[in-house]
Amino acid sequence: GKITFIEHDQTKHVAEFKTGSSVMQIAVDNLIPGIDGDCGGECACGTCHVIVSDDWFRKTGTPGGEEEQMLSMTPERESTSRLGCQVVITDEMDGMTVHLPEFQM
Ligand code: FES
Repeated sequence: GKITFIEHDQTKHVAEFKTGSSVMQIAVDNLIPGIDGDCGGECACGTCHVIVSDDWFRKTGTPGGEEEQMLSMTPERESTSRLGCQVVITDEMDGMTVHLPEFQM
């Protein structure tokens, strides 16, 4: 499947994914600028913040407790923000678009 990352300056990157990877892992594997994933997906760094497009947000589920706590400290948080490492891709998310914040934590 494919997922599109849109940088803060509107630069688009289309990345191929295999289901079962996280949005953060896909970004790192495809060298998408703007997602660092410093903690390796442990929900502990907040450098994998993505803002999911409204239409797709429901499909990504809801942030868990630790993720919610990390998001609450994220400066550019929006109502459809997620931590990329906590969003595991399913076939349902083929074609999803996520936006990147201007800065990561
Ligand atoms: Fe660190 Fe997601 S990679 S919180």
